[in-house]
Amino acid sequence: MTTAMRPLMAGNWKMNGTRDSLTEIKAIADGVKNPLSEKIETLLCPPATLLYVATALCDDSPLAIGAQDCHQGVSGAHTGDISAAMIADCFGTYVIVGHSERRRDHGDTNELVRAKAAAANAAGLTAIICVGETDEERKAGETLDVLRRQIFASVPEGATGETTVIAYEPVWAIGTGKTPTRPDIEAAHAFMRLELFERFGAEGKNIRLLYGGSANPRNASEIIGIADVNGLLVGGASLKAADFLAIYGAYEQLHA
Ligand code: 13P
Repeated sequence: MTTAMRPLMAGNWKMNGTRDSLTEIKAIADGVKNPLSEKIETLLCPPATLLYVATALCDDSPLAIGAQDCHQGVSGAHTGDISAAMIADCFGTYVIVGHSERRRDHGDTNELVRAKAAAANAAGLTAIICVGETDEERKAGETLDVLRRQIFASVPEGATGETTVIAYEPVWAIGTGKTPTRPDIEAAHAFMRLELFERFGAEGKNIRLLYGGSANPRNASEIIGIADVNGLLVGGASLKAADFLAIYGAYEQLHA
């Protein structure tokens, strides 16, 4: 396993978290200060308002901090947006792009997601590019077609294990308590691995594939044990340090 394939356990706080929540971030930062962190990379993506303080809290912790979106441009007249360079300036190292909630709420297209990922990479950030089918697409048997299209159009040329992470987040599994079956996750991840291999050659094997959608301390061990699942992108269950750390702990069993 190369360094780039160290599993990544990431939390996405979405539009949750105020200064009160810094105690949770501190507890997570402290909770991952143990030898397991050499094998498992951890990342938390709080709202942009907490980025700078959060990275300061993680000064002496292996917990990385990232943002939840960035603009595709470098700077300028884009009221309300933040650039990848601003995230890097706050010592963030990752940014999520193409989350289905951005695609839904802000109309982010695959092409825009690709431009955002490229902007993130240009600023030295690793882009976590989210893909995943809606319930309608799943029921129509289109899951793999959707993944092919999204990966083709949202992942920039020249993607590597250092610049890019892909998160498979079935839209219908986000925040619903529903998860795909084990064979379904296996099939989706094997398919994505093949797509990446075909497009990027051997480097395609170094791009980590996360699963996201109602992952929690109860189902984490099963999901992380599935082939080609190289980590998790956790929403609701990342808000509380106890839950985040329980999921992190699931890796301990896997690597015991
Ligand atoms: P939940 O874990 O709350 O389902 O959210 C998943 C997600 O969207 C992470 O980006």
